[in-house]
Amino acid sequence: MLRGKHILVGVTGGIAAYKVCYLVRDLRKTGADVKVIMTEAATRFVAPLTFSALSGHDVATDLWSVNQSSASDIATRHIDLATWADAFIVAPASANTIAKLTYGLSDNLLTIIALASRCPILLAPTMDADMYINPVTQQNIGRLQERGYVVIPPDEGDLASGLKGPGRLPEIQVIIETIEHTLDKSAQDLKGKRILVTAGPTFESIDPVRFLGNRSSGKMGFAIAKAAAQRGAEVTLVAGPVSLETPRSVRRIDVESAAQMHEAVHAHASKAHAVIMAAAVADYKPQAAAKNKIKKQGPAESLTLELASTPDILLSLGEKKKKGTVLVGFALETDNELLNAQEKLKKKNLDFIVLNSLKEKGAGFGTETNVVTIVPRRGKIEKLPLMSKFDVANEILNRLKNLL
Ligand code: C5P
Repeated sequence: MLRGKHILVGVTGGIAAYKVCYLVRDLRKTGADVKVIMTEAATRFVAPLTFSALSGHDVATDLWSVNQSSASDIATRHIDLATWADAFIVAPASANTIAKLTYGLSDNLLTIIALASRCPILLAPTMDADMYINPVTQQNIGRLQERGYVVIPPDEGDLASGLKGPGRLPEIQVIIETIEHTLDKSAQDLKGKRILVTAGPTFESIDPVRFLGNRSSGKMGFAIAKAAAQRGAEVTLVAGPVSLETPRSVRRIDVESAAQMHEAVHAHASKAHAVIMAAAVADYKPQAAAKNKIKKQGPAESLTLELASTPDILLSLGEKKKKGTVLVGFALETDNELLNAQEKLKKKNLDFIVLNSLKEKGAGFGTETNVVTIVPRRGKIEKLPLMSKFDVANEILNRLKNLL
């Protein structure tokens, strides 16, 4: 499956660099074309010549050491490698490089290429166990994962420091299988498609301090945006108030209220080939938000809020729907689930609706997994098993692709 694929291997400074020689050798055995770049620290562990011999290509180490006679070479070198790669694997990925990637530093060839590339980036964190479990490193790894980096967790065992724990480079075969799996998922089958995704809750102001909101975390919509971008789509993500990282290569527009989401969606929907409304848009908002903080009344007095309805974004999109565009909605019901979902599908003129279950274990708000039923306009209703929100996202995109 890797035959003919361009695999860029980024080596950073760590004792496991010697094992990456075997990774390069075995990747080449699969028929892949492999190029290696190294940080300066990596060259202290393994000579560039070793990787050059193993990969059959020059090894780039220093941004400044390019053939100085060719100005165009210098100007485009990082971009060339970034666009050449089908996948970029950083192994070993040191704590230092992981921190740089998290904050977008670009002070060497490896970090520049990571910033410039659109292909999947995989990381094999390999270091001393204490460095690995340090909350700073863990937080950085988590943030990169949220953005769509594929992290291959280290093996546990004896470490060069004499300690035992997590931090060893995983088996070469595991790394190769992960690259294969990643490239399989990221088949660029949505290239050239513009997809608009909404995610998260909306907040409707009661006064300058309080709001009406809901428990949506935005994880499902963000997973769809991430998966679509990895499959080559041009993704615009309209996000309600959530605390999630923006996936790589996704254009994000932050909004707060249903009215703002309505405006942002309509500003971009006409150019989109598909719109996926995963946001939990408020159906009602306070009739008028108070200008000043509402004061507490006497201890026994109640407060009545009058609510007005918000625009139904999806309904308005369905009314204006052009032939050939695909509209996908989400539904979360607590009773008569299927019937209500089918009614919504018709009323809002959707191609299919994704029914979330609140009752199933592992489904619903804030979880990393979901259990959904896909209800199409035509054809059979499909209940999918429990899976990660990212896998659910790919299932949704598979069905959407067939309708485009
Ligand atoms: O709220 P409801 O259950 O009708 O939500 C179904 C679908 O409609 C969801 O995809 C949601 O994003 C969308 N919706 C909307 N505007 C609203 C309410 C819901 O676009 N005001």
